[in-house]
Amino acid sequence: MTISYKDIMKRKIVALILAAGKGTRMKSDLNKNLHMLRGKEIIRYVIDAAKVAGANDIALIIGNDAEIMRERLGEDYIYVYQHEQLGTGHAVMQAEDFIKNNIDSDIMILLGDGPLITKESLEKMLLAHQDGADATLLTAVKENPFGYGRIIKSEEGHIEKIVEEKDASKEEKLVKEVWTGLSCYTGEALLESIKKIDNKNAQKEYYLTDTVKYLSGVNKTVKAVYINDEKETLNINDRLALSKAEKLLNQEYLEELMYSGVTIIDPLTTIIERDVKIGRDTTILPFTYLTGSSTIGMNCEVGPYTHLNNCEIGDNTTVNRSSLFSANIKNNATIGPYSYIRPNTVVENGAKVGQFVEVKNSIVGKNSKIPHLTYVGDTRIGERVNLGAGTIVVNYDGFNKYETIIEDDAFVGCNVNLVAPVRIGKGSLVAAGSTITKDVPSNALAIARSVQVNKDFWAKKRRDMRENLRK
Ligand code: UD1
Ligand code: CA
Repeated sequence: MTISYKDIMKRKIVALILAAGKGTRMKSDLNKNLHMLRGKEIIRYVIDAAKVAGANDIALIIGNDAEIMRERLGEDYIYVYQHEQLGTGHAVMQAEDFIKNNIDSDIMILLGDGPLITKESLEKMLLAHQDGADATLLTAVKENPFGYGRIIKSEEGHIEKIVEEKDASKEEKLVKEVWTGLSCYTGEALLESIKKIDNKNAQKEYYLTDTVKYLSGVNKTVKAVYINDEKETLNINDRLALSKAEKLLNQEYLEELMYSGVTIIDPLTTIIERDVKIGRDTTILPFTYLTGSSTIGMNCEVGPYTHLNNCEIGDNTTVNRSSLFSANIKNNATIGPYSYIRPNTVVENGAKVGQFVEVKNSIVGKNSKIPHLTYVGDTRIGERVNLGAGTIVVNYDGFNKYETIIEDDAFVGCNVNLVAPVRIGKGSLVAAGSTITKDVPSNALAIARSVQVNKDFWAKKRRDMRENLRK
């Protein structure tokens, strides 16, 4: 029997996530913890990491944009308000009740702006902590430690304190071991130490990091657990860091996809979000953006220049230079170039939606073709239907939308308006240039355009007349 991490954990674990700060370096009207990273709020990554590492209860410390935060994240958490942001230590002080309620637990503290932390690293920290420590810090060695709190150790190697960039002496600034922003305290150690800190420092803030100095001063055990990963410890202070995080996570996922049998021609211009699933032997061409919970089957070709959001694509389908949103495209279909497919559209097996075609809330039946320059909205198209270039479904009268039905084997000529509600019967033919306002029976021909008149020699006579005038 293998012993899992959960079996070894001796004490209950809860989490406290700090997210009240505004994040001035982000230069944004929105709290930085709510900025989107690959389709998901930054703070959600932190919450999810805490959950998978075994946090039973999660308290979020909020202040800036508190109500937006609550609304976005839902009521599964305990919310603690920090009305004035006087530092990370001050933030934790606001959670005194939460700490007291969990006095016999281990309290993991996470910063809301460190989304790349993994479950493995948190588990490493928690294991070390429960092996006998009052506080345990997750630390990393950074080639460029600028901006991070430096871990200052005694000659014997005991952690003495963490010094912030702005308070560090010249020598302290040379230290490359930094605090990642993640830590774990016993409830008792946190409650005791958080009351002992002050704001006598360069930023006049209550630093959470000063709890370390206090605890080591009273001979409590403070441990450091290294993680050797630049990526995981990236914290999002500004938009540059946000784009770095995007890139790192994207690259990581593209690699996973490539190892699983997906060809990605140019990873540098391809963005694929985590929840997108892609089958074997599918090729993704450059400048392709796949988002939401899209799934793509096997043997497809997607791209170049394609955006799919929340789409379902079957096997052996091609999507070229197109934008598709919440669409369901079955097998052996051809989409694009330059198709725009909007929500609630199903394109059945073997169907084709071609260039400059917009389809919305419609079904395109098996082996039907809409090759070019067409608008289809609120329409049910049967099998083997052909819509000629310039077919427009007139689905909206300015007040309401109406449905159009085009039955199997119908053939609609070029430049036809189908004024909804209307039904084009099975096997019927609609003459080019018609404006159809009445149902067309099965197998009938519908012509709805004015009759052509040819006036013999009219054009020549006109030319001659102008010639004479000029003389
Ligand atoms: C902090 C640490 C630093 C560490 C770094 C790692 C302190 C004093 N410094 O610095 O040692 O190396 O993180 O990323 O702790 N917050 C509040 N209330 C406040 C202030 C901040 O909730 O009053 C929240 C912020 O929303 C943010 C997090 O705490 O999510 C971190 O704050 P930030 O200002 O980014 O701290 P750093 O300067 O990066
Ligand atoms: Ca930070």
